[in-house]
Amino acid sequence: MNVFRLMPVLIAAMFLAAPAQAATVTSPDGRTAVTLDADGEGVAFYEVVRDGKPLIVKSALGFTFTDADPMRRGFKVVGTTTDKADTRWEQPWGERRFIADRHNELAVTFRQDGAARRTVTVRMRVFDDGIGFRYEFPQQAGLPTARIAEELTEFNLSQDGEAWSIPAGDWNRYEYIYSRTPISSLSTVHTPVTMRTAGGTYLSFHEAALVDYSSMWIKRVDGLRFRTLLAPSSRGAKVVRSGAFDTPWRTVLIADAPKGLFESNIELNLNEPNKLGDVSWFKPMKYIGVWWEMHLENSSWASGPKHGATTANTKAYIDFAAQHHFGGVLVEGWNKGWDGNWFGNGRDFSFTQAYPDFDLAAVSAYARRKGVQLIGHHETGGNTANYEAQLEPAMALYEKMGVHVVKGGNVADAGGIISCNADIADPCGKEVLEWHDGQRQVQHHMHVVEVAAKHHIAVNPHEPVKDTGLRRTYPNWVSREGARGAEYDAWGVPKNPPSHVPTLIFTRLLSGPMDYTPGVLSLEGRGGTPIPSTLARQLAYYIAIYSPIQMAADLPANLAKYPRELAFIEQVPADWAESLMLDASIGEYAVIARKDRKSAAWYIGGVTDDKPRAPSVALDFLDKGRSYTATIWRDGDGADGLGDQSAKHRIVIETRKLTSRDTLAIPMAAAGGYAVALVPAK
Ligand code: NOJ
Ligand code: CA
Repeated sequence: MNVFRLMPVLIAAMFLAAPAQAATVTSPDGRTAVTLDADGEGVAFYEVVRDGKPLIVKSALGFTFTDADPMRRGFKVVGTTTDKADTRWEQPWGERRFIADRHNELAVTFRQDGAARRTVTVRMRVFDDGIGFRYEFPQQAGLPTARIAEELTEFNLSQDGEAWSIPAGDWNRYEYIYSRTPISSLSTVHTPVTMRTAGGTYLSFHEAALVDYSSMWIKRVDGLRFRTLLAPSSRGAKVVRSGAFDTPWRTVLIADAPKGLFESNIELNLNEPNKLGDVSWFKPMKYIGVWWEMHLENSSWASGPKHGATTANTKAYIDFAAQHHFGGVLVEGWNKGWDGNWFGNGRDFSFTQAYPDFDLAAVSAYARRKGVQLIGHHETGGNTANYEAQLEPAMALYEKMGVHVVKGGNVADAGGIISCNADIADPCGKEVLEWHDGQRQVQHHMHVVEVAAKHHIAVNPHEPVKDTGLRRTYPNWVSREGARGAEYDAWGVPKNPPSHVPTLIFTRLLSGPMDYTPGVLSLEGRGGTPIPSTLARQLAYYIAIYSPIQMAADLPANLAKYPRELAFIEQVPADWAESLMLDASIGEYAVIARKDRKSAAWYIGGVTDDKPRAPSVALDFLDKGRSYTATIWRDGDGADGLGDQSAKHRIVIETRKLTSRDTLAIPMAAAGGYAVALVPAK
């Protein structure tokens, strides 16, 4: 080989061998610079500078252990390496087809003085729209098994501002209304937690690739200093790992506007590529289900005269699905175990035995004949031990029935998840209570995903562990709940406020798809209670909230009352080539555009809080020189999502011709919204 071609390699090798010292890595656009170093006391730390100004000031790194000396002081830098990437990869399904991964990387190895001479490498990736870093523990004599008492990663902000958050460590998992508060008054919160600094920088803190580790909560220690607080474990140590292991990535999205948070791909880029190969057995789709009727208490999950999941009732749903081109029908409550207090312990759930009035084989054969898929359901009642013991036959049964998606449920209001003791291989002689997002439950969800994949089944867990982008590695992890969804509009006190979805878009939904279950066109919950929404807003949700399986939640009889709106739900895609944020203010409003993956059509959805608005958005993303026929479903004159039923249902459906040179300023009522389908004119 020509020696000149080797020169860059030789220079790089010299650089890598240079003596260790504070090292800095910048984003490809040069705006964000991150330094990793150890201070005079040997505390490993990082700091982030944005446009030359401190953004995250000196923030310590480290760990404490239940049975070993802490790793918090006495570190020195013993090695640095650098790398970079500028690649593109394709999602099998998603909010966009192609994902660009462009980042610069710095990995710094810290060694602790002392007898054990333990080392840990911190790998830092810096993108134009944020950073991600993780700890990598080698196999080492000084720490053969890490029993982590706490992770000590700090996020020490330079400026106050406002934050959108839900509390962590409370009984109702992620199902809370988001609070908007000063950053400096936060307590302990789940991630993603999103902030806007006084200087106008948008930040969102989360994690990527949460595998065999405990979920990261973020706790304000004092002032603007935050620290990881790992979800607890029954074992004492919050995380137990033997040999070499990596922590999840700690991520901070950094943007000048909410748009930058929404369009970031850092979560996915920090996960491993697809491990499952061909997953074409899963097709994005819309579905209906024997579901809302139970939440309304029109029928019951339990057996008896009100039983919802009967053969006859499910067949009626299948007929409706076939007639209106829905891909699937979810059926909850067909399997034994729903009688009595299933909220309490889930001990009675069988995942293979049906109630006598439900014939699984007959129903699935009927669905197949009608070109509809049955969507399976596994509610554990929080008893993951009982579920794991039946998991293999349960998934095998669904596979045999032609089911390719299973919704999960982990309602455990008794106070925790009932799990086998400590190790997934434990025969479960002893039941213990675990947090829904601790290491044990993280292992459980991964186990379910892997067993399901073997049976060509996609999963959609409710009461899940939060999404950390693992759908890249396991594309059968298609959606999940993990926030207050439409079920709260049935029976929640209060129901989801109008600010909820404009907040979710910049918090929970930054982590990945959500099975929100929109489409309650009646706008009525249990006992006729009013849902704060207009009719047009329910349609906007199909664009504003991304999920490759999207429910039309209302009763078929109610959906049928709104044929023109139902036509929109039938038409709107659940799989996209691109997704863009056109305009937004967190918690107030958002206007999102998505391009169909199978055609040249674009869709636009707008949602607002309790204030009427008409944000003006440019359509410059449309193909230049092309004319589009836009069908618009919008709030009509006098529409009011907080008003009476007739005001909520006031809708105008109109068509216009639009091009990339136009702007659109569609009025939204209080708690309103709109949906637009832009189809290229012939
Ligand atoms: C809670 C889920 O969020 C809901 O969708 C489901 O119907 C119930 N659990 C019962 O499984
Ligand atoms: Ca739920």
